[in-house]
Amino acid sequence: MNVLLIGGGGREHALAWKLAQSPALDTLYAAPGNPGIAAHATCVALDATDHAAVVAFAQARVVRLVVIGPEAPLVDGLADALRDAGIAVFGPSAAAAQLEGSKGFTKDLCARHGIPTAGYVRCTDAATAHAALRGTFGLPVVVKADGLAAGKGVVVAFDRETADTAIDAMFAEPGAEVVIEEFLEGEEVSLFVLTDGESVVPFGSAQDHKRVGDGDTGANTGGMGAYSPASVLTPELEARAMAEIVIPTVAALREAETPFSGVLYAGLMLTPRGPQLIEYNARFGDPEAQVLMARFAGDLLYTLLSVAEGQLASLTPPAFAPDVALAVVMAARGYPGAVETGGRVAGIDAAEATGAIVFQAGTRASGDGLVASGGRVLAITATGADIGAAQANAYRAVAQIDFPQGFCRRDIGWREVARLG
Ligand code: AMP
Ligand code: GLY
Repeated sequence: MNVLLIGGGGREHALAWKLAQSPALDTLYAAPGNPGIAAHATCVALDATDHAAVVAFAQARVVRLVVIGPEAPLVDGLADALRDAGIAVFGPSAAAAQLEGSKGFTKDLCARHGIPTAGYVRCTDAATAHAALRGTFGLPVVVKADGLAAGKGVVVAFDRETADTAIDAMFAEPGAEVVIEEFLEGEEVSLFVLTDGESVVPFGSAQDHKRVGDGDTGANTGGMGAYSPASVLTPELEARAMAEIVIPTVAALREAETPFSGVLYAGLMLTPRGPQLIEYNARFGDPEAQVLMARFAGDLLYTLLSVAEGQLASLTPPAFAPDVALAVVMAARGYPGAVETGGRVAGIDAAEATGAIVFQAGTRASGDGLVASGGRVLAITATGADIGAAQANAYRAVAQIDFPQGFCRRDIGWREVARLG
């Protein structure tokens, strides 16, 4: 089978690495891919916003399955264009991807179906938002821009002034909509499920590290490291999150005749009242995919194809290695602000000689080596029998990387180590 993978980050490198292990794979194409992905795939310069070009490419190369990695092409309807052309695709329609593309859409769906989530108000103008802030909410309070914002659309405000400033900044964008939310207290965890719109199958848990600095300090990022599984999501809590949050969501979209097909990534807060939904993503996380793929023991191509073809019910349940996987992101200096690109990146072979896997994100070939081309550059991923071993193995590999203009957090996994170490 020929497969086309859309995307070119660390998440897609992890997916490409795992897809390439399937005996059923003939050629993997990646658009645009990256130098790491190129070890497993033929990288092609296809513009994912040009749906007709993607469809034509898939038809010309007899692609059996298209796997869409990032959220933007999903929200933009690339999966719809492919399905309309009769091509199997892993990833939801634009209508179902609104679960990630519009926070207001998701909050309203939760409200209609009694799905536990923070209390909220949707606002379409700044005056209403400022008034709602005073009338309805205590502190802290959370202010969110409605649409896709690459992790930059959320402000957790501990005072009114910060909330007011965030509201004004978000409404400075034409056509903006804002959701104001009650602050949820607890520990965050990510639950992944595969669904073809009917069947729903858990696909692992993880915890991310969103802040740029050690001890969870500094600016929010796309994620500086992750580990899987997350022991804080006990089997009991996972069953509750499935029954109270995920399954009713999938059912609601099916009933609305916009079934969700793909991976649903539920960001949960484990509160004293039980799991509450923080947000949904319509795709795998980055770097969560890296740790999930390091543990996944099945055939990814057949797994994703069975989702795409609506055959998830007949798939043997996904199996994961009992090991813990941990990924440390190395970013270019300045991330998540303006970054220094062009810095030399070396030592990947030495890092992998320790047993780790180095997934590439923001890298570019230069001469016979690599240079940094984006914010997050590498995700050094290792497994171990427990969190302590996985962490030690990952940082042993990090020590082999020669990237003078890069940095990483030194404490990925700290919560889990404190709990279990
Ligand atoms: P989101 O983009 O919705 O994941 O929000 C980014 C981060 O903001 C989340 O990972 C949480 O750490 C935090 N956050 C979002 N909503 C809430 C909430 N209602 N209560 C507490 N923290 C929140
Ligand atoms: N690591 C968080 C995300 O992928 O959204």
